Amino acid sequence: MSGKETIGVFGAGWVGLVTAACFADLGFPVIVRDIVAERIAELERGEVPIYEPGLAELLERNRERMSFTVDVTDVANEADVLFVCVGTPPTYSGDADLSAVWAVIDELPPLKRRAILVMKSTVPVGTGEKVRSLLNARGLTQIGYVSNPEFLAEGTAIDDFVNPDRVVVGSFAKEDEERVCALYEQIDAPIVRLDVASAEMVKLASNAFLATRISFINEIANVCEVTGADVEQVAKGMGLDRRIGPHFLRAGIGFGGSCFPKDVSALKQLAGNSGYHFQLLSAVIDVNELQKRRVVGKLTKHLGSLAEKTIAILGLTFKPNTDDMREATSIVLGSRLLAEGANVQAWDPMAHRDSYLHGARFCDSVLEAVQGADAAVIVTEWEELRGLARDEVRKAMRNPLIVDGRNLLDREQVRAAGFVYECIGRPGEAISEPPEVENPDSEPAR
Ligand code: UGA
Repeated sequence: MSGKETIGVFGAGWVGLVTAACFADLGFPVIVRDIVAERIAELERGEVPIYEPGLAELLERNRERMSFTVDVTDVANEADVLFVCVGTPPTYSGDADLSAVWAVIDELPPLKRRAILVMKSTVPVGTGEKVRSLLNARGLTQIGYVSNPEFLAEGTAIDDFVNPDRVVVGSFAKEDEERVCALYEQIDAPIVRLDVASAEMVKLASNAFLATRISFINEIANVCEVTGADVEQVAKGMGLDRRIGPHFLRAGIGFGGSCFPKDVSALKQLAGNSGYHFQLLSAVIDVNELQKRRVVGKLTKHLGSLAEKTIAILGLTFKPNTDDMREATSIVLGSRLLAEGANVQAWDPMAHRDSYLHGARFCDSVLEAVQGADAAVIVTEWEELRGLARDEVRKAMRNPLIVDGRNLLDREQVRAAGFVYECIGRPGEAISEPPEVENPDSEPAR
């Protein structure tokens, strides 16, 4: 035995697996429970059902410390600290769907010793109080409760776990707080100890604030386009102010993912349900929805009607280094283009092709996606797209128009390579013939 507490993890999704693998790597025995038997079988065979850089290696390295089960009693019998890492997706009303959380509480059997239920899932403020009452009502007073929200970002989740900016621990009882803090003693980060409701709010407010920054810089970008300023330079100039900081000031075609859209809406809804109208968050959501659609205007400016035009969508996932398509901008943009009657040719190195963008043609390479295209739109800033403005791409396209939704490319280089270039937050090009090609053959081929 390692002498360390045994960690139980409910939910073998992205948060659960990253949490489980990272704690195992810190030397804790970990038991993971999921209700999907197939997923558990895969994990037992050493297969990793989701993509997150470094996760497969971490799971492999810690196999002897980890076990997987569908049986809640296995976790209840073995684990001392039980992390809840189940999904809390949005409902139609914008509230968080907590049914998976309640299912965990309902299934918990009486435990023989004091254990702690630790909430990693993002939940509305007040959830901890409700869980506490439910546990008490079921006579499970020996189970403590702690809120320990996750701040992992997809693509960097393992590093975020190992090198966090802070660890937030909200508790009802000092002894539970101490035990959870002790789990993080090998992690070099400040621990913020607070009450449960405040811990729950730190998570929601952090995501809402980051989303607000993005919508803010996107609106600045839109104003830059009509006033002649350059949002990249503006963001740099703003970010050097220590009170503002440089992060999350990248203008683009809107935020997506499983967290920001859901959490912004959940916080707005939570405030509304409590009698407060959170106006700012309504604007953050509106700006984001409009931002996803602005590319259509940039395309019609150069192409006129999009009916029968062929548009390459380059990048589908909500950000690079993930296969996650949840709330991805590409879904809204692609659907709009299809609705305009355009032919959509899509490329992405990681996204699963099924169930998204019905009517689009999925391509195996960037070159295939731009073949015969009237425009290529960069939706996700995959590294592979940095070399897009090259000769073979220009020759493959019917019309050499690049709309760069992530300001990934160098404007001068792209123009010198013979493309018409539109990006975000800088005055666009006049409607004109493609610029003169200075020396396209000197462009690096990738
Ligand atoms: C986000 C937070 O960054 C994590 O701290 C948090 O733990 C996580 O949500 C969660 O609640 O689980 P994530 O959704 O993985 O993580 O991705 P981010 O890297 O934050 O990006 C979110 C979206 O914002 C992406 O669509 C990205 O393209 C966009 N974004 C980000 C911008 O448009 N501009 C920026 O400057 C930054």
